[in-house]
Amino acid sequence: MSGFDNAAATYDRSRHALIPDYDELYGAAVAALELDQTQTACILDLGAGTGGFSQEVINAYPQAQAELSDLSVPMLEQARARLGADPRFSFRELNIVTGAFGDGWDRIISSFVIHHLPHEAKREVFGNVCRALKPGGIFVNIDQVQACSQAVQDIHMRLWKKDALAAGALQQDLEDGLARMEAMDINADLDDQVLWLKRAGFARVDVVYRNYFWAVFVARKPV
Ligand SMILES: C[S@@+](CC[C@H](N)C(=O)[O-])C[C@H]1O[C@@H](n2cnc3c(N)ncnc32)[C@H](O)[C@@H]1O
Repeated sequence: MSGFDNAAATYDRSRHALIPDYDELYGAAVAALELDQTQTACILDLGAGTGGFSQEVINAYPQAQAELSDLSVPMLEQARARLGADPRFSFRELNIVTGAFGDGWDRIISSFVIHHLPHEAKREVFGNVCRALKPGGIFVNIDQVQACSQAVQDIHMRLWKKDALAAGALQQDLEDGLARMEAMDINADLDDQVLWLKRAGFARVDVVYRNYFWAVFVARKPV
């Protein structure tokens, strides 16, 4: 069992409180997909976990369809329990480092996943995402970033803990999240990730939101 298999059952319990700016963060990411309520886009969610990002996207763009992929079966089970009755959601067991994404996707999304991969694997995933998108397709990645110094990183961490507890996160869930960060995070600099996305073949790359130690990257494949 991976750390995420073990976390699956309680993952959603404090999720909103652990992301105190949840509405602003996901709102910026959803807007960056540049869809409208009438578009029938096919969207692939990499490392979907319990499906929170896909759910926000389908709430905003009800004609779209989302395929939720994850290597953790318990995470996918939680996602299926939440969303499986709705035919706009489908589910696939996939290791995003070794597995094939398929191609022709209108949009690819991911949240809080790619920072778990070694930097070389991050670059490979960015290349595979670009290849899997249709021309003009958009990749929106919510993810953690490394601050420019340890002092700034410490400030972000202190603010986040204070705000998460004030928002109602359970102490146990905060501690579990911190333990997973300690064991599993390989954060990269924001500037490096923008550069890697450009080198992966994306024509336009932007960061449309930044708070605490996370950011929303938007990358558009050339038409
Ligand atoms: C922090 S959770 C984020 C889940 C969800 N995207 C969210 O924002 O709530 C990280 C997820 O990435 C998945 N994951 C980690 N490495 C992966 C890989 N190589 N391939 C597919 N999924 C992976 C984990 O199983 C877990 O569900």
